[in-house]
Amino acid sequence: MPNVVVVGTQWGDEGKGKVVDVLSGRASAVVRFQGGNNAGHTLVVEGQKMVLHLLPSGILRDHCVSVIGNGVVVDPGALLEEMKELEVSGKVLQPFDDLWISHRAQVVMPYHLALDRLREEARGAARIGTTCKGIGPTYEDKVARRGITMGEVTVPTILRKRLEEVLPEKNRMMEEWYGAPSLSVDEIFERYAALGERLRPYVGDATGRLHQVMAEGGSLLFEGAQGSFLDVDHGTYPYVTSSNTVAGAACVGAGVGPTHIHEVVGITKAYTTRVGSGPFPTEGKPDEEAWLRERGSEYGATTGRPRRCGWFDAELVRQAVRINGVTRIVITKLDVLTGLERIPICTGYEGDAYGVEGLAGVTPKYEYAQGWEQDISACRRLEDLPKDCRVYLNRLEELVEAPIEMISVGPDREEVIIEGKLFASIQ
Ligand code: GDP
Ligand code: IMO
Ligand code: MG
Repeated sequence: MPNVVVVGTQWGDEGKGKVVDVLSGRASAVVRFQGGNNAGHTLVVEGQKMVLHLLPSGILRDHCVSVIGNGVVVDPGALLEEMKELEVSGKVLQPFDDLWISHRAQVVMPYHLALDRLREEARGAARIGTTCKGIGPTYEDKVARRGITMGEVTVPTILRKRLEEVLPEKNRMMEEWYGAPSLSVDEIFERYAALGERLRPYVGDATGRLHQVMAEGGSLLFEGAQGSFLDVDHGTYPYVTSSNTVAGAACVGAGVGPTHIHEVVGITKAYTTRVGSGPFPTEGKPDEEAWLRERGSEYGATTGRPRRCGWFDAELVRQAVRINGVTRIVITKLDVLTGLERIPICTGYEGDAYGVEGLAGVTPKYEYAQGWEQDISACRRLEDLPKDCRVYLNRLEELVEAPIEMISVGPDREEVIIEGKLFASIQ
């Protein structure tokens, strides 16, 4: 398999985890390169569901190296919890013997969690609607050059020194600005030194491991988190996450050059969802939204929040195809649309989506596709799909200007229709 970057082309929760799980059958290593445990990637294997937040979705495959790259922000307590859950469930056969956490990855500290929550509360109605996992404040510190890395957490003398440098400023901000209690160096040190000790066997030169995989002829699968319009540069700023989520970030967040990326696979829901605040041109009317939410079980995999739901936005996905350099599209959750009489498709906007106001100032223009009645979840070939369903897919393909080469018709690993050359070898 070539080296492939998988990204979400909307606002996250497109089904990236499921697709990465499917593709990881052929990959040598699966790599997370940005974000943190704000992500919630759901895998369903033989009817058993699991949600991953920090561990790459290749973790269930014995042959896969699992890498948490330098671009990720790691909450060590949350990561250990996730590892424990998988071990207890017996789903990981060889417990993490080829898991690599980059020593350069930044650590989510208790003050990041506190500040994320305090800032959201202070914003009131203008809140971003973050996952409150400390992601934004951790990336802020990284760029401000005062962050603490996974490598530093594993060396107690360094950890204490770094905390002594950083904490006074944080405490002052929390106490004086937000009227919140301060934190103690000793308490954080004790907790985090213990976490660092437990994670030490996995912390190392993750970039080096990836280059070793490539030198041995192996292939890399980069697992994006969030979605293109949550990207801090290209998304609906300021209603975005604090990392670059587009495909280009895979290079920076893992330490591989652009010449090593061969394919970019865009994961695209057959409709649109969004969690948190911010513009959403094709958001459904309350009854439409409720229908999609119930049919698609659209509740956050990380926070449990109901997701905002609406119709397919071809202008949005077309832009995602451009900014990511998407070579192939996977359409997910097509089964959810079964039973609709007619399906709205947004083909473009009135107003300038690429001006200063961005998506906040546009009105969607719709056309309508004929719906279908038959249950499609057992379909495994394009020919098995009802004609109107194929017409819907053809129209999406035409509008987004990239080939649709895989279609997901249910949450399970097996519930896919594989069409294109890239994926042909997977079945
Ligand atoms: P991710 O964050 O992009 O990995 O996506 P999430 O896991 O947050 O959300 C996708 C949800 O849809 C999960 O509950 C998946 O189990 C589910 N899912 C994925 N693909 C399909 C599909 O084709 N059909 C249906 N009905 N559910 C799907
Ligand atoms: P996956 O990988 C959907 C959203 C939050 C909020 C904004 C900022 O499962 O697709 P943050 O906590 O990152 O500072 O929140 O980003 N958000 C996601 N929405 N899926 C995700 O991840 C998300 N990760 C963050 O809801 O609007
Ligand atoms: Mg998710």
